[in-house]
Amino acid sequence: MAKDYSKYFTTPSIKDARKRKTKETVVIDYNDYFNIKGFGKNKTYRIETFGCQANEADTEKITGILEQLEFTESNTLKDADLILLNTCAVRENAENRVFGELGRLKQFKKNNPDLILGVCGCMPQEEKVVNRILKKFHYVDLVFGTHNIYKLPQYLETVILSKERVIEVFSEEGNIVENMPRIRENAKKAWVNIMFGCDEFCTYCIVPYTRGKERSRLPEHIIEEIKELILEGYQEITLLGQNVNSYGNDFTDKDYKFSDLLTDLHKMDIARIRFTTSHPKDFNLETVKILSKGGNLMPYIHLPVQSGSNEVLKRMNRKYTKESYLELVKNIYKYIPTASLTTDIIVGFPGETEEQFQETLDLVKECNFEGAFTFIYSKREGTPAEHYEDTVTMEEKKQHLYKLNKIVNDGYLRGTKRFEGKIVKVLVDGFSKNNDAILAGYTENNKLVNFSGDSSLIGTIVNVKITTAKTWFMLGEQVG
Ligand code: SAH
Ligand code: SF4
Ligand code: F3S
Repeated sequence: MAKDYSKYFTTPSIKDARKRKTKETVVIDYNDYFNIKGFGKNKTYRIETFGCQANEADTEKITGILEQLEFTESNTLKDADLILLNTCAVRENAENRVFGELGRLKQFKKNNPDLILGVCGCMPQEEKVVNRILKKFHYVDLVFGTHNIYKLPQYLETVILSKERVIEVFSEEGNIVENMPRIRENAKKAWVNIMFGCDEFCTYCIVPYTRGKERSRLPEHIIEEIKELILEGYQEITLLGQNVNSYGNDFTDKDYKFSDLLTDLHKMDIARIRFTTSHPKDFNLETVKILSKGGNLMPYIHLPVQSGSNEVLKRMNRKYTKESYLELVKNIYKYIPTASLTTDIIVGFPGETEEQFQETLDLVKECNFEGAFTFIYSKREGTPAEHYEDTVTMEEKKQHLYKLNKIVNDGYLRGTKRFEGKIVKVLVDGFSKNNDAILAGYTENNKLVNFSGDSSLIGTIVNVKITTAKTWFMLGEQVG
């Protein structure tokens, strides 16, 4: 690749991103870093977010930074002076969507040469993506990754004032940046990062390369953030991490784990606490027992299993067995009888046989999941599974996905049916997408409910009697 002589030019390396140094995590205070004044005045921005909650949380921070620089949000893409795509690299189709969008935006750039177009998030952490942008998408002005969001003010200063292109992606960073400004998407439900990165290296997955080493935020910083959210009137928080059950494993000076964090948060005055994502290998009985205390700890657990075959789990490097997973599920239902469980499953992992797929179907039936995200395996460059021999045809993979989804959908319906005639608590989000006389919100078990009521109920928790259960939602009536 030709050297670019811009002020900021650092490209990623998947090989370096694999490295895990034992060096301690450095906590950076954004306020020590931020010293640039409002050059976003009279300029508008628009961010398009792809991927998981980690990206949604990052978009809130990027929005916070932009508003601090005095940019204002544009109602439409075509009127924006700055467009950022916050991207996801987890599957090929996620990436294709972003490249498609970049192609579409070329016209915007032609119509308005002053438009600043940026790509951030997980895709720039891959060298093949940055190479492709450098080669084919000359009109992209700004590329940065997941580790250097806090440097956005400097990058924008360079792009806007010096009219230079900025490409800066770090592969090996393992810092935590505290006190970034933040504009939250929702006024009642908040994402709270409890850790960053992932050290699991499941053999199919790109996330450990795009998000860096696993590092936990200090408990006092998490608790401080939640205290502020409570003061601002938030009702629900979702604790975020790629494997929340390994929270605290990286602390060298204290013994404080996920179960300790839940114990502390259980005492706090916030109505609802959720968390995602759980890893079956690290989800211990202590955590199950704490969750059984209920109260603000919601009876809903997303527990990705990926496969029901021990052979496939081994080749995925998931580090648990079908038997240990079933034991965990048994304990969850024993200690939290009202719990709703959902999962993630990959079909068509390289070499997966018909029998191994059948084992996944059997496990899904046995676990009584009330929902699942199901995916066809997508090869990711730089991951170990890239080199596994893929013996399953696309036709077979599609058939497997279809068969699996039929069983999964039965689970969704079973999961709503059990609430028919019952009274549930609904945190009201707003009006239903299809009907602005009907309110919509989620139950403690994370089921969507529609019922009629007036706008004053938005943001509050309402008792609703469920009258009809459908596969994807429930209908009900407000009671006392
Ligand atoms: N840390 C979380 C989320 C990871 S990404 C976890 O461990 O569950 C979300 C889901 O995407 C994964 O659970 C997995 O089912 C799926 N996924 C990840 N990489 C994939 C790939 N290469 N092909 C298909 N699905 C994948
Ligand atoms: Fe990917 Fe596995 Fe980490 Fe989840 S736990 S982000 S699937 S490597
Ligand atoms: Fe996608 Fe990155 Fe999340 S790859 S799933 S946005 S961590």
